[in-house]
Amino acid sequence: MNLFKLQRLIMTALLLASTGFSSVWANVHYAHYAAVAMPDKYSAQVAKQILQQGGNAVDAAVASAFVLAVTYPEAGNLGGGGFMTLYTPKIVVPNSPTDKDAENNALNVHFLDYREQAPLAASQDMYLDDNNQVIPYKSLVGYQASGVPGTVMGLWQVHQRFASLAWQTLLQPAIELAQNGFEVSSQLADRSQWFKRWIADKSSTPLNFESYFGGLKVGQVLKQPELAKTLKRIAKQGAEDFYLGETAKMMVKQLQKHDGLITLQDLAGYQAKWRKPVVGEWLGYQVVSAPPPSSGGIAIVQLLKMKQQLVDKLDKALLQARKSGLSETTIKTHFYAELEKRVYADRAHFLGDPDFIDVPVDKLISDEYLRERGQGVLLDEISESELIKPGKIELPETTHFSIVDAQGNAVSNTYTLNMPFGSGVVIEGAGFLMNDEMDDFSTKPGVANVFGVVGGQANAIAPRKRMLSSMSPTILLKDGQVQMVVGTPGGSTIITSVFQTIVNVVEERMSAQQAVDAPRVHHQLLPKDLIAYNPDLPDQVKQELELMGYSLKKNNYMGDVQLLVNTDKAWQAASDNRGEGVAWVFEVDTPTSRP
Ligand code: GLY
Repeated sequence: MNLFKLQRLIMTALLLASTGFSSVWANVHYAHYAAVAMPDKYSAQVAKQILQQGGNAVDAAVASAFVLAVTYPEAGNLGGGGFMTLYTPKIVVPNSPTDKDAENNALNVHFLDYREQAPLAASQDMYLDDNNQVIPYKSLVGYQASGVPGTVMGLWQVHQRFASLAWQTLLQPAIELAQNGFEVSSQLADRSQWFKRWIADKSSTPLNFESYFGGLKVGQVLKQPELAKTLKRIAKQGAEDFYLGETAKMMVKQLQKHDGLITLQDLAGYQAKWRKPVVGEWLGYQVVSAPPPSSGGIAIVQLLKMKQQLVDKLDKALLQARKSGLSETTIKTHFYAELEKRVYADRAHFLGDPDFIDVPVDKLISDEYLRERGQGVLLDEISESELIKPGKIELPETTHFSIVDAQGNAVSNTYTLNMPFGSGVVIEGAGFLMNDEMDDFSTKPGVANVFGVVGGQANAIAPRKRMLSSMSPTILLKDGQVQMVVGTPGGSTIITSVFQTIVNVVEERMSAQQAVDAPRVHHQLLPKDLIAYNPDLPDQVKQELELMGYSLKKNNYMGDVQLLVNTDKAWQAASDNRGEGVAWVFEVDTPTSRP
């Protein structure tokens, strides 16, 4: 063993001993470490259990995603969709589609798009009335708000390609939790109460949300027998049950009865897609993140690169601030807002489903383009924004988890129903909620969606098209090793939360926990010059930003970041203090690590 390796093992052991881990010194030589950062304790327990019984990061991800569909019904799902970014240096995959891509092959990175698709009967103006006005909430609540779900197909396809444990084994924990029940947390009870009130007057057709999730009380044991049966069918028949079998028929029967659009043909035609992830070079890291139909990867790389290109300008402004007594956070917040204006303007104009439009990904993240884009960034005043219809900033929804196994494979997964509890429609007999992802399309050019972001033709509705997303499951690599696994829920704030978390770790040198808990700020071009902030942003910063001309909006919830960081000493795992997540680093005895 070389000196470096020995030093690393000793440091790891000392660190774990000092943080109360039950590490047995004699075993350290043979043990490897895995890490998880999960949005609730049930998914954390199951991810750990799967890794300890010899599963890899993908096994743990599949089992956890099914568990969250039971224990985190506001965002974990069968009836929604999402994205998974993977780093798989230790999983041998013969004849896989993306392995044809030399660049991905060299980096061992992959991206699975299991985003929802517009049904075949969807059309560009489907949410407009006779006067060409958007019909309020039609794309958000009720039977016509859902895209064709992608989650079950996504988990099936990633399992087929990368998993090492049997599909049935991975569904078993979720089946047991649905059958035997789990304890409702205060977060789930509060969110279900909020959603019940929110949808009360928003659908012309009665919804059945209340009879399934409406009266949840903290501490009650929630059993979901219908969902347990659905999970058992999926365990036995795989994705076929959901897209062609009994579950598909239940879904279509109920949706069609209420003028929903999804047909058996839509379900039968759904496929998750392996896509080339966005890879940006930044400070010696490869930032690997979500490509279109997400805007996340492009936006995060744009923010990081522009920040780096303009670092001298920023440093001068910070020096000036120190001399004049201004807070450095004010300057940085304004600087981020200037970058974000440009990034969200690109998002609105260029981005959509790459199967329908040409998205100039390489150009949008090229140094040359970004240098030009950053030229107008002002450090002492606010750049003009075009005034387009403003919308709301953010709602809590979506969920993310980050997993690394002891071999060094990593999964960063974000999936969602869109709003918490999606469309409010539960499939009767099958027990799962349908998404309301159609609202992520641009229902009318220039009209903001629920997150306040606008779009145009690139993100217009069309049959089988995938709606633009901000979900950004991200992995940072350096020297052929995973350095960070990160992601968060939060609608359009996902991008800025992931950006700030990366900067907090790499440039501000924060620990993983400090990085996720630090106050965050968010600007997205529209509403004009509005900065959303966490309550713990210092008063001085708020006052100074207002003096500069920004308006501020307090946002109690801005993401639920799940972060893993590879330090020189050991893995650090951190769950956001804004949520109820659980993060652990633990020993896994792997066959390869035994002498
Ligand atoms: N539904 C939120 C997003 O995909 O960005």
